[in-house]
Amino acid sequence: MNTGLFITLEGPDGSGKSTQISYLREYFEEKGIDCVFTREPGGTHIGEELRRIILDKDNREMCDMAEALLYAASRAQHVEELIKPALKSGKVVVCDRFIDSSIAYQGYGRQLGDSVRVINEYAVGECMPDITFLMKLPPAVGKSRINTEEQDRLEQEKLDFHNKVYGGYLEIAKHYSERFICVDASRDKEAIRMDLIEAVEKALQDRGILCL
Ligand code: TMP
Repeated sequence: MNTGLFITLEGPDGSGKSTQISYLREYFEEKGIDCVFTREPGGTHIGEELRRIILDKDNREMCDMAEALLYAASRAQHVEELIKPALKSGKVVVCDRFIDSSIAYQGYGRQLGDSVRVINEYAVGECMPDITFLMKLPPAVGKSRINTEEQDRLEQEKLDFHNKVYGGYLEIAKHYSERFICVDASRDKEAIRMDLIEAVEKALQDRGILCL
């Protein structure tokens, strides 16, 4: 188990993760709890460089396995350089997407299957999230929220791809039910915020990071 608390947010594009992450930031600031906010792909200098390559719309020739390996490379660097040291020093880490994104998008969406989990086990080692929030929202609704011109290489994919990703998420959440908390993301932002804060608060108390 991690010394600090490792929280990840997952879900289809346009499911409102960024808004909820900004609410979590406010919450941790208010409580005076030391928290690192980060994202994938990215989070480190090398990770952000890889992000640019992975999401660049002009990189049409990128094959699926190269894509999966680049996400995993960004993650390996992220875990080693930022996430593990932060958790070791007892901090809370909130990460916008992590290993489950690869399993859903590359494993299910690109249909690379179990190879994605294997690659990523090398990338993360023992460093797994304590809590993963899955923002449940039909991909068609999420996609309609994103301006077409602003869509990156993955967001641009057809609805059929995003439906496969979403189906993957639901399977993963069932399989790892001990760390997944599924949230109905079709509700208003405040209702979602309250669900997240309640779960986070409980985990902070269980670990003695927040006292009653
Ligand atoms: P973001 O828009 O949430 O920052 O994520 C960038 C895109 O990358 C998003 O469409 C999901 C996708 N993605 C994967 O396909 N595999 C991964 O491992 C990660 C972290 C993201």
